Amino acid sequence: MLNRGFGWFEGFKVSGMEVKLILAVVLLVAATATADYVRPAPRENLQFLWKPRAASYPQQVHISLAGDKHMRITWITDDASSPSIVEYGTSSGEYIYVAQGESTSYSYLFYSSGKIHHTVIGPLEDSTVYFYRCGGQGPEFKLKTPPSQFPITFSVAGDLGQTGWTTSTLDHINQCIYDIHLLPGDLSYADYRQHLWDTFGELVQPLSSARPWMVTEGNHEKESIPLFIEGFTSYNARWKMPFKESGSSSNLYYSFEVAGVHVIMLGSYADYDEYSDQYIWLKTDLLKVDRQRTPWLLVSFHVPWYNSNKAHQGEGDDMKASMEKLLYAAGVDIVLAGHVHAYERSKRVYGGKPDSCGAVHITIGDGGNREGLAQRYYKPAPEWSVFREASFGHGELRIVNSTHAFWSWHRNDDDEAVRSDHVWITSLVSSGCLNEKIHGFRKILMEP
Ligand SMILES: *[C@@H]1O[C@H](CO)[C@@H](O)[C@H](O)[C@H]1NC(C)=O
Repeated sequence: MLNRGFGWFEGFKVSGMEVKLILAVVLLVAATATADYVRPAPRENLQFLWKPRAASYPQQVHISLAGDKHMRITWITDDASSPSIVEYGTSSGEYIYVAQGESTSYSYLFYSSGKIHHTVIGPLEDSTVYFYRCGGQGPEFKLKTPPSQFPITFSVAGDLGQTGWTTSTLDHINQCIYDIHLLPGDLSYADYRQHLWDTFGELVQPLSSARPWMVTEGNHEKESIPLFIEGFTSYNARWKMPFKESGSSSNLYYSFEVAGVHVIMLGSYADYDEYSDQYIWLKTDLLKVDRQRTPWLLVSFHVPWYNSNKAHQGEGDDMKASMEKLLYAAGVDIVLAGHVHAYERSKRVYGGKPDSCGAVHITIGDGGNREGLAQRYYKPAPEWSVFREASFGHGELRIVNSTHAFWSWHRNDDDEAVRSDHVWITSLVSSGCLNEKIHGFRKILMEP
């Protein structure tokens, strides 16, 4: 039978080489006909040219929310005597306010960082453009403060890195109208090579100097060397978040409130068992949430709890086992995670099953890093999984009012941002879930 099969080819006197060629063409035609989307390959790391600059020139400017009506401005100078002052005002070139901040620096093996300045400015008006200058010289920057009421828009992208795809993602975020960027871990992919933290800071500056970037840590931030260098040295020095302002004792987890939204940034790489500082802080923070003031409750951390991709399968299970009941009792609306280099959105889910009072879990670790995409999924998709795709891109969460939010995910398709998934999400406040659960919630939180 087999011989007869090949006989067909022999009859036409086709060589082995030609058979392979024909098969390749047939397969190619079939693939093009069935798949409407050809997934692009990972892109190279970006090359950064050294630019000669004065040692006091402010570099790597980024801003973050620092308590009610305040913003922290962070920048780096090579000059250790450069002052940590920010001059600012609402008209270009007219800096009627000045704030004095603090500075830090760190060494890492043979690397010594520049002077890292952290200066808090405010009180600031809501939805207002401020012009500012760092260290008394250099270029003028421009930021916009978030609104005090709905609507508010968050852009979201984790696992950024600094490749050609990162540039594409940043371009698309820049084109959207947003108030705050949320980054659920894995920023620079420096991975011990400290100068890559500096190039990352320069790469994101056009965006991060204009809108607050609220970040939490991923595995690539850790950079620890056992018995020698503690984890998160560089991350904590450079990306100081409002942990003190939110009663946390660690830069690895904190919370903030903005325009009717309470956002909790948890740490997948800080202890999370029920005796840990993070767990105790989380309980306290959840107790402070007032759903009249902040009807929406969001949580973000690096390692997803709901993930049907074969990459990093099960890595979030321990943290989920410890903390999911708290988030459920408190009525968390949406959980945003990274780590897996792909996009996935769940139904409202709790304890591994769809639950109308659980959170919507979104994995968005597809910012564009050098490791490429995670393309293998478990089949069939679990009951809770609604949409999954391995492509680079970013998300936008527009919270319209106390009951409605519009979530969309935008794929970097041939460098165009193509909206590939979107959904209206209604808040738990409007669902009746919270009224039923409030008793149980208090009980869980009062437990020793
Ligand atoms: C909230 O926004 C949604 C979507 O635009 C709208 O249908 C709804 O009426 C709004 N609710 C309130 C109370 O304004």
